[in-house]
Amino acid sequence: MSQLNKLATATIPNNGGELVLLQHEDEFTIKLSGARGVLMNSRVYNSEQELAKLGCAHIKSKENAAVLVGGLGMGYTLATALACVTESSKVTVAELIPEVVEWNRGALGECAGKPLEDARTEVRLGDIADLIKQQKADFDAILLDVDNGPEGITNNANNWLYTPAGLNALYNCLRPKGMLAVWSAGPDALFIKQLKKSGFAVNDKMVRARPGKGSRHVVFLAKKP
Ligand SMILES: C[S@@+](CC[C@H](N)C(=O)[O-])C[C@H]1O[C@@H](n2cnc3c(N)ncnc32)[C@H](O)[C@@H]1O
Repeated sequence: MSQLNKLATATIPNNGGELVLLQHEDEFTIKLSGARGVLMNSRVYNSEQELAKLGCAHIKSKENAAVLVGGLGMGYTLATALACVTESSKVTVAELIPEVVEWNRGALGECAGKPLEDARTEVRLGDIADLIKQQKADFDAILLDVDNGPEGITNNANNWLYTPAGLNALYNCLRPKGMLAVWSAGPDALFIKQLKKSGFAVNDKMVRARPGKGSRHVVFLAKKP
């Protein structure tokens, strides 16, 4: 622990405490304050990449595809989404915490290959919930990794996203045959039920934290008919 350098902190809105950015040599960690533990480590990102590969598989060769990623974190899901879609496509990334975007414009951004510099990336600062409440059916894929899964951890207000109202708003933002992909720390049968009730056809896929090993996480794949 003593070798970890504290580089910066950021306040999480809605009394969510703090995010802390730490560095040890070329390894970065983003921690949540209190006992909530590590949000991201720059050496463990396979499941974040899988989220994008699974969520964008149906639009690999589609021209002018539109993808929404929430949130930015260390940029691995964003970078993989950019690698999965065509040159004419656009990837919007919604990030709640301005400092996270700043960190990714600096040294942290090197980890995922500086995806914010890709001309197809658009950053929307703010709560993804506000964005989806206003948006029309404009996305072919929504890749959601703002929490530990269908349960708010970074920001208590995130719980709304996983309610029938939140899922309905996400559904309405998708084009026909669009895919909502949700990263989760583990399985959640109730969430699958809720997704089905909201009109999605649902699959879930186990993904490992590191290629072929590490913790078993889940990506929920919810397709709009
Ligand atoms: C686990 S990290 C995402 C990791 C990312 N998939 C990656 O590949 O590095 C969660 C991110 O979501 C952001 N976030 C949390 N709640 C949000 C919200 N309501 N709207 C937008 N971003 C949010 C956090 O600030 C954090 O940057």
